[in-house]
Amino acid sequence: MTARADMLGQLANRRIGHALPRAFYTDPAYYQLDLESIWYKDWVFAGHDCELPAPGAFLTLQLGDYPILLVRGRDGDIRAFHNACRHRGSRICSTGHGSVARLKCPYHQWTYELDGRLHYARDMADGFDKSAYGLKPVHCQSAGGYLFVCVAQDAPDFAPYRAVAETYLGPHRLAETKVAFESTIIEQANWKLVWENNRECYHCSGSHPELCVTFPERPTLAVTGGDMVDPDDMAAWARWEAQGLPSRYCIAEDGNFRLVRLRLLEGMVSYTMSGQPAVRRPLSDSVTGADIGALLMFHFPTTWNHVLGDHALSFRVLPLGPTQTQVTTKWLVHKDAVEGVDYDLANLTHVWLQTNEQDRRIVQENQIGVSSPAYEPGPYSALHESALVQFQEWYAGAVQRGLGGPARALSRVA
Ligand code: FES
Ligand SMILES: [Fe+2]
Repeated sequence: MTARADMLGQLANRRIGHALPRAFYTDPAYYQLDLESIWYKDWVFAGHDCELPAPGAFLTLQLGDYPILLVRGRDGDIRAFHNACRHRGSRICSTGHGSVARLKCPYHQWTYELDGRLHYARDMADGFDKSAYGLKPVHCQSAGGYLFVCVAQDAPDFAPYRAVAETYLGPHRLAETKVAFESTIIEQANWKLVWENNRECYHCSGSHPELCVTFPERPTLAVTGGDMVDPDDMAAWARWEAQGLPSRYCIAEDGNFRLVRLRLLEGMVSYTMSGQPAVRRPLSDSVTGADIGALLMFHFPTTWNHVLGDHALSFRVLPLGPTQTQVTTKWLVHKDAVEGVDYDLANLTHVWLQTNEQDRRIVQENQIGVSSPAYEPGPYSALHESALVQFQEWYAGAVQRGLGGPARALSRVA
């Protein structure tokens, strides 16, 4: 049986409410199918608009085999391109961020305009047609301060996410922020183990002493709405929505994104060891009052996020191999907030630097155990791990759609 038929068969017959079989977390052929069915087909979070403040500012990312660059043009628009020269293919921008007047290939100095047109190619023959060798475009969209790219020929419809993201994220004005700090870690684990760990807080009390100072472990946080919603959450949503802050659960039809605003522990307003704001200047000029809970947004397969009154956190997941994943965390603050005056960087970053490191160790141990031939998928806790059922439902649906496998109705959780 081919890996493709094997994978589709295992997904169709998987035991609901249980972890996935070993091959999904270990097998290079299954990893390749993940890339082809999901990562090379869906919208992938690249970075923030605020990271490209002026024409010529660029950022890069490596998505599987695809090096990609995003750059702000002279017209102010942000575009994405394959970061590979049209001469002999060299990568053009090799740093994560930067600013250029034009995009110049370091190999033989072919030079491109910020809109991708080839501007200059030295000593090519008469009749060389520069217009035929512009950079290859990648689909690029911006919504609520987040930049997404898609390398598929035909990108999925971005409109449903845009509508929701702009409504929920709009008041927080993330395009008017700056990255106060950025951290990238490599986790020796399959990307789905990283996500599964993120989607439950069953492990929090045993692993995250700093986060548990402010973040509640209530299992109802993990579910996607429905009967288990706490009346106190309903009251908080009504209060925040009266302030103009959309807060109720909103989940995509196919489960690939979800937004909801949730209460932190009583009296806590930010992820610090005191629970008090890490940044004196509010994140957004249009949101008053520190107690706005945390707006939690995820968009599979690349990003989960927390937006607080004083700062926001974005997390970007990129797969590096069958058992290796890159996680980049960014701390966003108001663009005019001044380090050392409005915030102390160590205080701002402490809780999540610790939490990320704790999670890295957890998922690496998970990978070692799952890689054993003796591993067999165990049952989820219905109380604490219902969001893993939702993640797996999305994953199975996305792979089946991406590989053209047998359709299976998606059971919406909310
Ligand atoms: S490969 Fe880029 S100029 Fe030659
Ligand atoms: Fe965790």
